[in-house]
Amino acid sequence: MKKNILVIPGDGIGPEVTTWGKAVLEQIAKGFGHDFSYDEALMGHAAIEATGNPLPDETLEKAKKSDAILFGAVGHAKYDNDPSLKVRPEQGLLKIRKELGLYANLRPILLFDELLNASSIKPSILKGTDILFFRELTGDVYFGEKTRSEDNNTASDLMIYHRYEVERIARKAFEAAMQRRKRLCSVDKANVLESSRLWRETVQQIAKEYPEVQTDHMFIDNAAMQLIKDPKQFDVVLTANLFGDILTDEASQIAGSMGMLASASVGESTGFFEPIHGSAHDITGKNLANPLASILSVSLMLEIGFGLKDEAKVIIDAVDQVLKEGFRTNDIADDTTNPYKVLGTKEMGQLVLKYITQKT
Ligand code: NAD
Ligand code: IPM
Ligand code: MN
Repeated sequence: MKKNILVIPGDGIGPEVTTWGKAVLEQIAKGFGHDFSYDEALMGHAAIEATGNPLPDETLEKAKKSDAILFGAVGHAKYDNDPSLKVRPEQGLLKIRKELGLYANLRPILLFDELLNASSIKPSILKGTDILFFRELTGDVYFGEKTRSEDNNTASDLMIYHRYEVERIARKAFEAAMQRRKRLCSVDKANVLESSRLWRETVQQIAKEYPEVQTDHMFIDNAAMQLIKDPKQFDVVLTANLFGDILTDEASQIAGSMGMLASASVGESTGFFEPIHGSAHDITGKNLANPLASILSVSLMLEIGFGLKDEAKVIIDAVDQVLKEGFRTNDIADDTTNPYKVLGTKEMGQLVLKYITQKT
């Protein structure tokens, strides 16, 4: 298969982890005889420094022409600590999502049995958990009108949804539920928010097209609690942009770490594949970042983006093997981990690559 892949490493640990995602892609291409070509582009702080723009036109043009995008992360402490800065790294990410029409962000909570002890939740509660989040990605309070009063004492962000935006992601989530355990939980705040009442009404409507799927509705506050109390109750979780952002960081603790969660953003055109984590300034440049979220994002690219199921499985199997043999990065190490088996970013990347090479 011939594919043209754009790599956007971004900021902080983005380049450190994306190096391994790309290396895995190269090895898969070699092992399975695919013809993947690569290009690279700037986004976020790195792009602001080089061009003044968090999403340069050149990056967007390359993105539109590519078959898939592998992204790292954006963000820099400078902006986090100075809310007055108008040009911000995250604007690049939000704009590319909007421009590419990436309205559905799939965030699988893939729990490797070997990591049951890495979580702060009890293994007996976690075991068997398998959740697929569908986070709406191009609407909500993220993209509603933003205002600041002239006297600078009032600010607002409009939380807004259009019916078609809810319909299209709901259909994708129901289709996924049909391929899984046929359960869908839609999470909103319909007891308070009008946009959530439109959300719930629309999901109820779409649910009629999928009578085989058991559909539930849950308020976000309860869902945040239920996710920790009994994560196994969930199969597909469908939710809005902001709620999905927060719930999936919470859910990363089911998988053991932010460094384990991959995501696929899909919609109208080129798929966009990225870890759910950010640029993690606290560990940047220290060889401490877990590269598995980026590597697992590549497996999502192969499966969801290109329909290459066997190739995707080789990656999951290689990660599983590394974990079964007791190797861990710092974030997923626990009391039971042999200290000699705690690896840095580079060593973990190399090991996964070695096992992929053996399996292809
Ligand atoms: P973060 O996800 O960067 O980090 C949260 C915590 O998780 C940190 O303690 C970090 O060390 C840890 N962590 C994250 N990824 C890890 C990995 N691969 N391996 C080991 N540990 C990992 O969130 P934050 O600290 O709130 O944000 C930092 C910056 O990243 C901010 O500027 C924010 O805007 C940006 N951000 C970007 C994205 C993105 O690009 N998709 C996502 C979230 C945050
Ligand atoms: C994510 C991030 C982004 C979001 C930020 C950096 C814009 O937290 O991808 O989860 O909120 O969507
Ligand atoms: Mn987030």
